[in-house]
Parts: sequence; structure tokens; C-alpha cells
Amino acid sequence: MRIASLVRKSRSFRRFHENREIPMNKVTMWLESLRFLPSARNLQPLRYVVVRSAEVREKLFPLLGWAGYLKGKGTPQPGERPPLYVVIGYDSRLSQHPAIDIGIAAQTLLLLAVSCGYGGCMIGSFDEARVREVLGMQEWFGVGLVVALGKPKEKVVVVPLEKGVEYYRDEKGHHYVPKRSRKDLWLKTL
Ligand SMILES: Cc1cc2nc3c(=O)[nH]c(=O)nc-3n(C[C@H](O)[C@H](O)[C@H](O)COP(=O)(O)O)c2cc1C
Repeated sequence: MRIASLVRKSRSFRRFHENREIPMNKVTMWLESLRFLPSARNLQPLRYVVVRSAEVREKLFPLLGWAGYLKGKGTPQPGERPPLYVVIGYDSRLSQHPAIDIGIAAQTLLLLAVSCGYGGCMIGSFDEARVREVLGMQEWFGVGLVVALGKPKEKVVVVPLEKGVEYYRDEKGHHYVPKRSRKDLWLKTL
């Protein structure tokens, strides 16, 4: 798939076929690819924890904030929760400013997933200390983003931003994401 189509197709999906596991060879290929990403000062502070066991998924799920604008209605129900998470963390002994590296890793991971017929959602809303505890990680492990992954079970549609930035759902449960136009974003060419 061309990169431009992948970028468009890569939406935030929050409902999944919970029983459709992602094969580990795919996950291994994705994590191997992340090794090649750019990194500020080439510090490579990012560390990953893959969560696939039902036991740990159940503990992690309630620590995550889903679709804040939908006020509870965007939280996936049993049967539609992600079958896998990749927690993007960092070694705080190596870097205290990993945010840009984390963003690059998260978007690359989502694009890799979409290229293989999967999809996901970055989750930045969580209780860091509790996530660290559930993962069995020590204090040095900073939690950057939790990326939920799986086979999407929802339709996400990009629409022009007219009223506001808040995403919404219709009666069929389709999810609509307002986006600003290229003209709004592209200020000038010098
Ligand atoms: C840094 C970051 C943090 C995010 N955190 C959350 C989150 O905690 N919960 C959630 O449901 N979505 C989260 N999202 C997804 C955004 O809500 C989503 O990107 C936005 O609504 C636009 O939808 P789209 O990704 O389909 O374009 C996050 C996205 C980014 C980039």
C-alpha cells in the first residue's frame, strides 16, 4: 500500500475483534522495524512491553482513558477490547525528554499495523504508577504511550472540521473525526 493511503487509513480504532489474536511473528516484525527509527542524540531510550495475556490485559484495561469526548460511551465493551497492547516506555536514566521519540515510534507502529490489516489507538491517558506496577517494571521505566492494537471492528470516518474538534458517533456507532483542511494547516511557503 502506498504510504499516503496508509496514513489516511490509519485512524484511531477503539473497538476490535477481541478474539482475533495478532500473530507473534507480526509483532516481532513491527518491533524489529522500530529499531531503525530516528532518535534525538541517538540515545535510543525507548523500551517496549508487549501485553497479550488475558490476565495482564484485564489489569491494564481499567487504567486507560478511552475517547474522552464521548464521556464513557467510547470505552470498548467486553468482546471488543484490544487483544494486544504495546506499551511504549523509556529508560529515564538515559533521557528525560523522550516525547518526540515516543510519538515517532507510536505512529510508525500504527502504520506497520495498518499495513498488515490491523489497527489501533494511542492512549496517553493513564495512571503511570499503576501501569508500571501492572507491567512489573521498575521506577526507571517511564510510561510514554500505550498503543492498543487489533483487528478493528468499527468504521472511522474523517470529516471536514466545521464546528469543533470533538469526534462524535452516529446512531449506527460510526465514529467521525473532524480534521482541519490543508489550507488551515499550511500557513505559507517562503
Ligand atoms: C499523543 C496522543 C495521545 C492520545 N491519547 C488518547 C487517549 O488517551 N485515549 C483515546 O481514546 N485516544 C487517544 N488518542 C487518540 C486521539 O483521540 C485521536 O488521534 C484523535 O481523536 C484523532 O483521531 P484519528 O487518530 O482517527 O485521526 C491520542 C492520540 C495521541 C496522538
